[in-house]
Amino acid sequence: MKVSSSRTPKSARRRVVAGAGALALGAGILVTGVLAPAAQAAGSVTFKDLVLGVGANETQRYVTWYASAGTDSTVQLEKTADLNAGAFDEDVMSYNASVTPTTGSSGGDIARSPYRGSALLDTLEANTSYTYQVLASDGSTSASYTFKTGSFGLGSGFEFAAFGDPQLGADSNNNSQSTSADLKEDAAGWADTLNVLQADASDDALPLELLTSTGDQIETANVESQWDAWFTPDQLRTLPYAAAIGNHDSSDLGYKYHFSLPNNDTTTANLQTTAGGDYWYVYKGVLFVVINSNAQSSTKDPAHMAFVTQAVKANPGAKWRVVSYHHALYSPASHANDSDNVARRQPYTQAFSELGINLVLQGHDHSYSRSYVLQNKGAGPDRQNAAEAQGANNVLEGPGGVIYVTTNSASGSKYYPLTEPISGTSDATHSGKYPAGTMPWAPGPGGNHTLHWANSVENQDNVRTYLKVAVTNDKLSVTNVVAGVCDYPNKFTTQHVGTFCGASQTTTTLADTNGNGTFDRNQGASGAPGQPTNATADKYTATTGVAPVGTAQDTVNITKWDGTQGDGQLIALDVPPANPGELGWFINGGNHLINLGTANRHGNYFTASGAIDPLTVTDSRTFGDTSWSLSAQVSDFKDGNATLLGKYVGWVPSILSAGGGANAGATVSNGYSSGTGLADSRTLASAANGHAPGSAQVGANLNLKFPVSVSNDGAHNFWGEITYTLM
Ligand SMILES: [Fe+2]
Repeated sequence: MKVSSSRTPKSARRRVVAGAGALALGAGILVTGVLAPAAQAAGSVTFKDLVLGVGANETQRYVTWYASAGTDSTVQLEKTADLNAGAFDEDVMSYNASVTPTTGSSGGDIARSPYRGSALLDTLEANTSYTYQVLASDGSTSASYTFKTGSFGLGSGFEFAAFGDPQLGADSNNNSQSTSADLKEDAAGWADTLNVLQADASDDALPLELLTSTGDQIETANVESQWDAWFTPDQLRTLPYAAAIGNHDSSDLGYKYHFSLPNNDTTTANLQTTAGGDYWYVYKGVLFVVINSNAQSSTKDPAHMAFVTQAVKANPGAKWRVVSYHHALYSPASHANDSDNVARRQPYTQAFSELGINLVLQGHDHSYSRSYVLQNKGAGPDRQNAAEAQGANNVLEGPGGVIYVTTNSASGSKYYPLTEPISGTSDATHSGKYPAGTMPWAPGPGGNHTLHWANSVENQDNVRTYLKVAVTNDKLSVTNVVAGVCDYPNKFTTQHVGTFCGASQTTTTLADTNGNGTFDRNQGASGAPGQPTNATADKYTATTGVAPVGTAQDTVNITKWDGTQGDGQLIALDVPPANPGELGWFINGGNHLINLGTANRHGNYFTASGAIDPLTVTDSRTFGDTSWSLSAQVSDFKDGNATLLGKYVGWVPSILSAGGGANAGATVSNGYSSGTGLADSRTLASAANGHAPGSAQVGANLNLKFPVSVSNDGAHNFWGEITYTLM
């Protein structure tokens, strides 16, 4: 429900100042972005599980919390720069909150708070730091937190994160107990992942502005001690979080109470489980649609797709479209061929292709996968470009092309080993269309792992990861980042769930460091309080094959055809006045992506090389002027605001298959030393008037040479265009 905001009346404003008097604390605390709660709050209401949520767009945020009483409350908001010695003053704005009763006791050892509160902060200004707190009418206050708005609109871009299955309390022996060592370990992993993300993003070129999930925040939907543990990290109060509903969240009202969601359908029966339905929001020109995939059947699947369709139609100007939900259609582990996932594949993938969805974020399988660009034209999902190389870091989405990513565990609470495609089914080779590839990383010691046909990358290193997505006008850069190593907090190795950890995927016998002849979990028995006692337990000691925290496990840069690129060919074709016969041409293979890989450094310059996709020119004209010339020009390469000049590209054209009187164009030197390289239009091939009819295949090897100063400000992923013109 949208709650109107209003300036606080003067009397109330004074009360705010009085109530916040105890908040006039040391400036040192302010530096952390979190103000301590009032030591002597005027009232008796207590608050917990406070979370910042996304609004309908970047000008809004939701604040949601649990309260011990139903006392009328507001959210106090003030520009941080306007605070008076850290305290709210007459510049504070007061947003009315909706405080409603919950269903009370929920099971577990900590009962659900009897009330939940929610307020929508709107009319935010761009590039502004705000401080906020909950204030009840009896003077009770929550702690205060700060958040920053970024620029409005996509501008130079932003980053968001996606978390898979934190599932706090997973596989606990006694998961209803807040004192459970398992829950503490999972919570420690979750908190550490958020810290790692924050540190990782702090020096990125683009600001981290948004946290998203693919579901399963906790293990047991109605166990509030798990929710309490999940809400512990303060990043959940300084960055907006957009949660999806996992199967472990789905069966109780806890999720619905804990999150306030924009454009949320809570009534269409086919979208609902107890936890809620589907919702969408737009953040800086990117449409995010979040589906409750727990509602699944042959009638519910189309209902979800109708919801996505409505969201897409309501936002025709969205630059990118991202869909999130829990149950991965294409994952690499134990859920890869669950019958419900198989059932979702046709309706989901066809709708996503038809609606121009660019990126789909999924969870549930506690492992990582990234699909090839997939397209479903109605006859079933398939690779859009059969030539897309396994693990390619740069991919191009043609119309209808979609990338599906499955997120691994963000907390270390549980991992699933990779599974092999099911022999004899389309899961193995997609009905024989694709040869079975092999994985560089095996799920167990020694063996090769065959990828599922849809997946370009599959990974299970049994370490925590998160997904970081950098969004710019030109591309989505999706990176799966290592957030933890094998040691605590990581249930896989600390509890000896498996026998290996890390990218080397070699067998490791976990160390019997306490010398009692057996491997002991490095935690006490279920229900034991406190952190693991490593003094009396074993410890994972391997240091080889473990990728350091912050390592990019996988990166894919996604660019796409946009409206200005017409029917999906990065080419221009000028048709001359008609002559008798036909003159035409096409790019062989239909890949349309020239991937030059990574440039090589030589002293003060870089080089790179590659080849254009061959072009076939057919000329069956027999009279009139039959001359033709196929030329090409390279644009400047772009990466955000960085530019690599097109003149640094040179080429050596060649006739790969002779015919039609075709002659190769002249070699053009790159413009590193002098000249304009391919920045000016150059002839790839031509034929003279009067040539014999026929066709030729022409190609060219490209070479780049450019100064190292191009990357003085850091790594770049440049994209350019080569435009062909046939005259
Ligand atoms: Fe799940």
